[in-house]
Amino acid sequence: MVKCHLRFLVCPNCRAELDLIEVEREEGNQILEGALGCSHKDCGKQFPILGGIPRFVAKENYASGFGLQWINHARTQYDSTSGVNVSETRFFEETQWPRKMDGEIIIEVGSGSGRFTEQAAATGATVLSLDYSFAVEANYRSNGARENVLIVQGDIYQMPFHHDSADRVFCFGVLQHTPHPKKSFLELPKFAKPGGSVVADNYVKITGIRSLFATKYWFRPFTKHIPPLLLYKLCNLYVRAMWPLSRIIHHLPKGKYINWRLFLSDHRGEYALSEKMMCEWAVLDMVDKLGPAYDFPQTLETIEEWFKAAGLEDVDVRPGYNGIQGRGRKPS
Ligand SMILES: C[S@@+](CC[C@H](N)C(=O)[O-])C[C@H]1O[C@@H](n2cnc3c(N)ncnc32)[C@H](O)[C@@H]1O
Repeated sequence: MVKCHLRFLVCPNCRAELDLIEVEREEGNQILEGALGCSHKDCGKQFPILGGIPRFVAKENYASGFGLQWINHARTQYDSTSGVNVSETRFFEETQWPRKMDGEIIIEVGSGSGRFTEQAAATGATVLSLDYSFAVEANYRSNGARENVLIVQGDIYQMPFHHDSADRVFCFGVLQHTPHPKKSFLELPKFAKPGGSVVADNYVKITGIRSLFATKYWFRPFTKHIPPLLLYKLCNLYVRAMWPLSRIIHHLPKGKYINWRLFLSDHRGEYALSEKMMCEWAVLDMVDKLGPAYDFPQTLETIEEWFKAAGLEDVDVRPGYNGIQGRGRKPS
């Protein structure tokens, strides 16, 4: 972390200011190893800085599978790696934010490998990016050197940022993977300034006959208990072994649909991805479906109810990239 970014952080325990109490290793303007300490005498909690990242939670936790997934696929979904502008398009369409946001503060909740951190940082805003898992290390490798990016490992339920401080808050692909999605969502507006924008999404709940074909929910009761490394190896083996067959299935009637049900993410004809890259995306997708400890899809009505419960204005909730996406504004 860069020293001057300390002003964006507070103690997640008591919300007092933090002090830089130890610097063990620095490189340029980055503090790589050290510690932060709470300034409140009755709290006194300390938080290590490891690998340039302030850590407010234990490195290993329920989201460790995500950590492994994003370390193994640190750049897979970055537009600059894939050559398709999926992340850029989704970021600007889902948020409806402008391309230039110099001088603004954006909080990103649940950054994963940081493909959206890259997009947010490119607007010129200062991006405060948080994730619960050690995926922050993948994000740090890609975005950590940017002067306008602060990456922390922390929990959505105890974010170490000032309340009412951000011009914009976004949370993509995360809520359904937390233990209490509504409670998680209700944390987000606390950090937006009055008048600030809040954007979040959630998987959609499939109902009726279609729900019978949501194959991931057949397997998840077992696979979510498999140790992350073993699950990763199994998914990797399965997808790579099945990939040649997926090309044949693709040409059958409903072939694309069948491939998706078989965990062989089929983007053929959708994105200009090479077969090799598509196969890599499919491995990532399969782990992402079967590994998470939590997966709570919601209906559109439920998400609307959350935005209402948060007291947000100008609410727009609709089907979107991740199932359902919603935007709202904190009252001025
Ligand atoms: C599917 S990934 C999405 C990553 C990224 N936003 C993207 O769309 O590429 C979900 C992320 O949510 C994070 N996450 C899960 N529980 C969290 C929590 N309690 N606080 C913050 N992040 C959490 C996971 O560590 C994981 O990186």
